[in-house]
Amino acid sequence: MKVTVVGAGNVGATCADVIAQKELVNELVLLDIKENFAEGKALDIWQTAPVNLYDTRITGSTNDYSKTANSDVVVITSGLPRKPGMSRDDLISTNAGIVKTVTENILKYSPKCIIIIVSNPLDVMTYCAYLTAKIDSKRVFGMAGILDTARYRAFLADELNCSPKDIQAVLMGGHGDTMVPLPRYTTVAGIPVTELISKERLDEIIDRTKKGGGEIVNLLGTSAWYAPGAAAAQMVEAIIRDQKRIFPVCAWLQGEYGLKDIYLGVPVKLGKKGIEQIIELKLNEEEKKSLYDSAKSVKEVMSVLDNMNNSTVAK
Ligand code: NAI
Ligand code: 2OP
Repeated sequence: MKVTVVGAGNVGATCADVIAQKELVNELVLLDIKENFAEGKALDIWQTAPVNLYDTRITGSTNDYSKTANSDVVVITSGLPRKPGMSRDDLISTNAGIVKTVTENILKYSPKCIIIIVSNPLDVMTYCAYLTAKIDSKRVFGMAGILDTARYRAFLADELNCSPKDIQAVLMGGHGDTMVPLPRYTTVAGIPVTELISKERLDEIIDRTKKGGGEIVNLLGTSAWYAPGAAAAQMVEAIIRDQKRIFPVCAWLQGEYGLKDIYLGVPVKLGKKGIEQIIELKLNEEEKKSLYDSAKSVKEVMSVLDNMNNSTVAK
């Protein structure tokens, strides 16, 4: 099996490192547009193999897509990250151009691959890749929900002083401040979290989760990479190992949850065919309203892409 990660920056290199350490594939290619950058990162990661004891061969490429040929899964992380004061949506025009070109090049050499988008603004860049790729939406989807849920679970583990392993949660909606963590579907070793934490405190944790990306941007001056890289690698693992795991994933909705023609975070089953099922949870009125508010804000940014007066995206 072969995986390519496009963008050898913070998130891409971390994702490649996790994929290699988990020994998910025998061939792993890291590609970047910056001269020698991917080659350098790949060499450094490969030199951890004798220490971390894995066989995955990792190589780097400066924009030579022939090296990515016949990849089973491709993770696209290329694009600008946020700086303090920027929203994810500020990145739209630059990153749409990058995502479009990369998607075209990838499919030239790996027409059957599954594409996972990481570049921001996530929901809209996934839409951009889908419009460009013109392949089944089961094979084009985005990573955000695993990261956002991981932040939520980590904050809950801190609050309860318990293992994050025991916290299960569902979070839906767009990758932005309108995301929808669902306390009714959050448990700690099977115990509803609402029995363990007061509503007031849970609301504070939910608010921190929604702003979790910005919290890190303010601390670091750029966006996060360890958790995003590990989250994207977890999706690769579910596909390569055909695990049928259920994760929140940015998926193309065609009527599910009453929403149509939109990329939005929903629980899905991930396996070797990509998205094998979109799971429709029963939501109460308040949860539905939050999801629809989030969908509305994602749609607004999708229409910015649709209306963009350059030729980055052709329908
Ligand atoms: P970074 O700046 O460290 O790396 C981006 C890399 O993309 C750079 O090495 C750059 O040379 C490369 N690149 C730019 N144009 C390219 C092209 N046309 N072809 C190939 N490579 C190209 O940025 P970082 O921190 O790795 O973030 C990458 C993207 O992921 C950003 O858009 C960021 O906002 C997004 N992100 C998304 C998350 C999510 O949950 N979906 C979480 C964290 C970051
Ligand atoms: C994050 O949530 C910026 O999307 C990036 O860390």
